[in-house]
Amino acid sequence: MENRSQWGTRAGFILAAVGSAVGLGNIWRFPYVAYDNGGGAFFLPYLIALLTAGIPILIMEFTLGHRYRGSAPLVFRKMNKKAEWLGWWQVFIAFIISTYYAVIIAWAMAYAIFSFNLSWGNDTAGFLTGDYLKLVDAGQFGSLVPSVLIPLIIVWVLVLGTLFKGVRKGIEVANKIFIPTLLVLFLIIVIRAVTLDGALQGLNAMFQPDWSQIANADVWIAAYGQIFFSLSICFAIMITYSSYLPKKSDINNNAFIAGFSNSSFELLAGIGVFSAIGFMANTTGQPVEEVVNSGVLLAFAVFPEIINQIPGIPGLFGFLFFASLVLAGMSSLISICETYIAAFQEKFNISRTKAVAIGGGLSAVISLVYATQGGLNFLDTVDHFVLSMGVGLAGLVEVIVIAWVLRKVKNLQEYNNALSDIKVGSWWVICLTVITPILMTFMMAQSIYTDLTEQYSGYPWSFLIICGWIMLALTLIAGFIFTSVKWKSGLEKQDKEVS
Ligand code: ALA
Repeated sequence: MENRSQWGTRAGFILAAVGSAVGLGNIWRFPYVAYDNGGGAFFLPYLIALLTAGIPILIMEFTLGHRYRGSAPLVFRKMNKKAEWLGWWQVFIAFIISTYYAVIIAWAMAYAIFSFNLSWGNDTAGFLTGDYLKLVDAGQFGSLVPSVLIPLIIVWVLVLGTLFKGVRKGIEVANKIFIPTLLVLFLIIVIRAVTLDGALQGLNAMFQPDWSQIANADVWIAAYGQIFFSLSICFAIMITYSSYLPKKSDINNNAFIAGFSNSSFELLAGIGVFSAIGFMANTTGQPVEEVVNSGVLLAFAVFPEIINQIPGIPGLFGFLFFASLVLAGMSSLISICETYIAAFQEKFNISRTKAVAIGGGLSAVISLVYATQGGLNFLDTVDHFVLSMGVGLAGLVEVIVIAWVLRKVKNLQEYNNALSDIKVGSWWVICLTVITPILMTFMMAQSIYTDLTEQYSGYPWSFLIICGWIMLALTLIAGFIFTSVKWKSGLEKQDKEVS
């Protein structure tokens, strides 16, 4: 384990953690989720989710990675041999997410190019599903779409190329370039957006509280789901990244910096997107709620429509927006892939190059499914079940296993406080042992009930069972299968190091 890769600098680790957290979730998911769940009233559940679950779990995962130094399966196994499956489950959730996450980045890459001559024309929604994606009915594949396939290949070449180079020379260097560039690009967009006519109208719609929503369980589920996905917690990422920290590292402070940077960026994205939506509503004379649309459509149909109207150089504004999506997405995709690369490397005792080639290569091949004409339907369903439900469930199980079954919270608290300037007190223990497990049990039960009784997005049941439920079950089954395989590395020696 002495040869384990390490971050070169503390800033390098923080940038990588922020790079992982700030992703597609912040730019195209958050603004819509916030609006759809009560606008200003969403911020209270969001803030509570951040403080009671997001930051506490982030601190816990940084502590786990640093203390047990390994990929998620190894970390859980070192805690207790019977817990290894949980690490693999999270790794396979990350694996499935990586297969379609790459495709959304590929769309953004294509749209960055389309921006130059506003190729999407006036019917932007028609362009997206018709001219660009050539969408067919749910369950059908159709043929591969070249304008998705080509950028998808570029995404994988760049991401796997970075991963081949390793933690310090690849991931750290990429994030040092991506994150400051992203910040500059995004600040330009936000400044331009808030100075557009009608921006205030959009901001009012986003920030005006709809208190009737606060008692709605779905709003709370959305807030917790957004926090988990956005902070990259509960699907093996932050455990893996923190396992590359040097022995003397401040854990709590790093977690606060990464967590609050992510939420600040998320807020900034909300302000930028909603100012632009307000501008659009103002220009077309429509109410804001008619301009806003669901996740994928917000970025790839509503935004192009807004770009069409921007005074000055609309193409440049469009390019900057989609280039930001690409940068934010790439730094997150790198972290999602690193989870299984590190896990395969350790379990099968293979070189990093082999692990990247096998793990990344397999994910790239599977991602071709989403580059077909039926891709968007598959993507939407897998995203809902594996990400929204899978990450929530894996998070709930993680907290229950650590807090209630293995009773490790106090022990982890002593460990991280000994290393950190800011000490976490009993609020941290209470959040992890009482508040989060109870709230989440209730929320996940509600969410499963909804998915069992209502057809998600109106898709046929047979399609939802295969692409949703079975897909989610496969992540767990793959987790158990990989747990049953013997470790090819000298694990006994590592076990001793920890005890
Ligand atoms: N945290 C990453 C995102 O928000 C995965 O997209």
